[in-house]
Amino acid sequence: MHALRDATRSLHHLLDSQLPLARPDAGVADYLSHLRVLRGWLLALAPLLQPTGWGQGYLQALDADLAQAGAVAAPVTAAAPADDPAFALGVAYVVEGSQLGGQVLLRRLRQSGVDHGLRYLQGRGEATGAHWGAFLKALRARLTQPAEIAAACRGACWAFEDLLARMRRAGLLA
Ligand code: HEM
Repeated sequence: MHALRDATRSLHHLLDSQLPLARPDAGVADYLSHLRVLRGWLLALAPLLQPTGWGQGYLQALDADLAQAGAVAAPVTAAAPADDPAFALGVAYVVEGSQLGGQVLLRRLRQSGVDHGLRYLQGRGEATGAHWGAFLKALRARLTQPAEIAAACRGACWAFEDLLARMRRAGLLA
């Protein structure tokens, strides 16, 4: 856990300090551009995540939010690299972890009066903490060897870097 957090701290900071959706004045247009990028990212990660059993079920809510706005979804590009199960769990760490920040963003957007579905950010709602706890437990049980922890860190950094690159291509990050 500490290794994953340390390996990705600066990458997370880039997102939470610079994403348009994290700005105090973020509105529904920022939410929809954010979702379009996340959609391409989650679709690319899906083949890696599927065998882990984690990071599942977020795309449906995301697509429902985009559909509500009549928003055209971004095309899928660039498949994730094939690697070992520990790498895939590192990727799952980023997808599951992003739901924690999602709860903060959800509260902020609601306070700003954003009246869109926000189903994706809502995610598991009050069960988010319990789900994260279960994920961490599975992670600790599965990643015991130094080589597995290193592979998970590579997977987590790769997932963050891929998301950052997509955000940059969409003009959402400098
Ligand atoms: C889609 C982009 C994002 C991704 C992929 C992401 C990823 C993560 C990950 C992996 C964690 C777990 C860290 C850990 O405890 O080990 C996390 C936690 C968190 N993130 Fe993000 N995050 C994103 C955006 C944001 C934004 C924009 C904010 C700003 C509000 C934010 C705020 C937080 C907070 C408050 C936590 C909980 C920290 C804690 O409880 O210790 N995140 N995020």
